[in-house]
Amino acid sequence: MAEVEPLWAELADLANRLARQAGGLIMEVAQSARSAAATKSSPTDLVTMADRSAEELVVAAISAARPQDGIQGEEGANLPGSSGVIWHIDPIDGTTNYVYGLPVFSVSIGAEHDGQMVAGAVFDPNRDRLFRAVRHGGAWCNDEAIVCSPLARISTALVATGFGYQPEQRQRQAEVLLDVLPQIRDIRRFGSAALDLCAVACGQVDAYYERGLNQWDLAAGAFIAQEAGAVVENLRGGKPGGNFLLAAPPLLFEALRDLLREAKADQPD
Ligand code: IPD
Repeated sequence: MAEVEPLWAELADLANRLARQAGGLIMEVAQSARSAAATKSSPTDLVTMADRSAEELVVAAISAARPQDGIQGEEGANLPGSSGVIWHIDPIDGTTNYVYGLPVFSVSIGAEHDGQMVAGAVFDPNRDRLFRAVRHGGAWCNDEAIVCSPLARISTALVATGFGYQPEQRQRQAEVLLDVLPQIRDIRRFGSAALDLCAVACGQVDAYYERGLNQWDLAAGAFIAQEAGAVVENLRGGKPGGNFLLAAPPLLFEALRDLLREAKADQPD
């Protein structure tokens, strides 16, 4: 196994610590935060004061420890930085579940250095599970090493997906589902992209796809899934992003990618 550089280990330690800390905060304020939820990009896109407070906590701690780093956060953090390190933060991934009291949400913190992901932490405060990875260090859930499923047959694949907040985008995503669902074992829609990616990482689902994600939703989880052995790309062989993300074990990836391409899953809405 290649070496873990000291900088990557430092970033991973910080990500792990802050993901747990922010997770503690959002659990503590859940009752009052839920009753004061507001909307963002569309009437279905929710935000709470817990999203904002957790992002503030993480941004303040990173800025204190590493003042030259860049930071991008879902709730507005946008610092360019000058160290070559950029952090991607989703203080609550799965805000709709959080507001409804459904126990499927997470804190997601990823760090890239010179354009490549080097550390990721996704904390699931409901199950006290910290998913984490550092470049060349494999993927872990708490203290257990995790790997993605060995599945090769698309017809028995359990596949997670998610939907965006814009009505036209959802229309298209529903159409794609009509082509995909008859070809696989079943679909899951948990409501937190970061946890969907961690479910791929530990084999709790075989694969996950979604169009329209933001970098803060996907950065840490995609990296953890990759360190766990999954292929994580868009449908054209490039880096995953808003255009498309498919995460699947190597033996399953091609068949699912072809099915999604045929369904035109990455074409504009
Ligand atoms: C959302 C969740 C959801 C996914 C959406 C994301 P948010 O993030 O990850 O599972 O389907 O595309 O926007 O809004 O809860 O941070």
